[in-house]
Amino acid sequence: MRTKISQRRKVILGLPRIGVNTCFNIRSPKCDDFEKNQTKEVCDVVMKTFQLIAQDSTNNMSKEVKGAAYWDERFQAPSYAYGEAPNDFLAWAAPQVKLGKAVSLCEGEGRNAVYLAKLGFEVTAVDFSSVGLAKAKALADLHKVTLHYVIADLKEFQLENNAWDLVVSVFAQPDAAIRQRLYAQLGQSLTSGGAFILESKVSEADSSNRYPGVATLSADIKPLQIAFSQQGERELNEGSYHVGMHTTAQILAFKN
Ligand SMILES: C[S@@+](CC[C@H](N)C(=O)[O-])C[C@H]1O[C@@H](n2cnc3c(N)ncnc32)[C@H](O)[C@@H]1O
Repeated sequence: MRTKISQRRKVILGLPRIGVNTCFNIRSPKCDDFEKNQTKEVCDVVMKTFQLIAQDSTNNMSKEVKGAAYWDERFQAPSYAYGEAPNDFLAWAAPQVKLGKAVSLCEGEGRNAVYLAKLGFEVTAVDFSSVGLAKAKALADLHKVTLHYVIADLKEFQLENNAWDLVVSVFAQPDAAIRQRLYAQLGQSLTSGGAFILESKVSEADSSNRYPGVATLSADIKPLQIAFSQQGERELNEGSYHVGMHTTAQILAFKN
């Protein structure tokens, strides 16, 4: 028993820790950055302005829900918007899950689906961006793995009963109605011992509720058993769009 606990702690301690400090996506200026002959008043005004801009960008994070055309355009670029490497929380959590059929919601350009396929899962990538999924196919071909592709709006997507051993939601950020409907299906849709892995951005101030915290998300996925969850500020380094400090929620949960 002692060995088991210490092994489990080791796994959890191996996860990149989320910090609790307040940071912004770009480096905050410090008063030391200013020439010595500038007054403290000038420095304070610049610092205050910087903080207001950064706060505003956090509050505006979710003002409008973006349609498929927006994402198609983002994914037109030859480079991978969120990189080709898997999300690091997924890479920590997925090896703890039994192999089988996995579905990745809002998969985008395939980085997470390809990683899961290389682990041995049979993976279905769901997204409403056909351009994103075409790039997922190119990435899968490069890594010599096969994926299933479903071009669908999550608004209409159903998690069918007893269908999946793993459901993944990495930076999916569906609106509250879609999220609550879909996550309520997890209990029926996962096979016994199946898992749900989530990482998503958090903005508690957001009124559309596309960026809920770990408490709301944990309630949404009942009756799954949460094996690990945390929320906090951490550094993202995923392609060119997820860079710098962000508040995220992370969950690994299982169906008994
Ligand atoms: C921030 S990207 C994350 C992509 C991917 N999960 C990753 O981490 O690399 C959000 C993805 O969600 C998809 N998406 C957003 N709303 C959607 C919806 N209602 N139905 C299906 N896909 C959606 C977008 O096309 C995009 O691929």
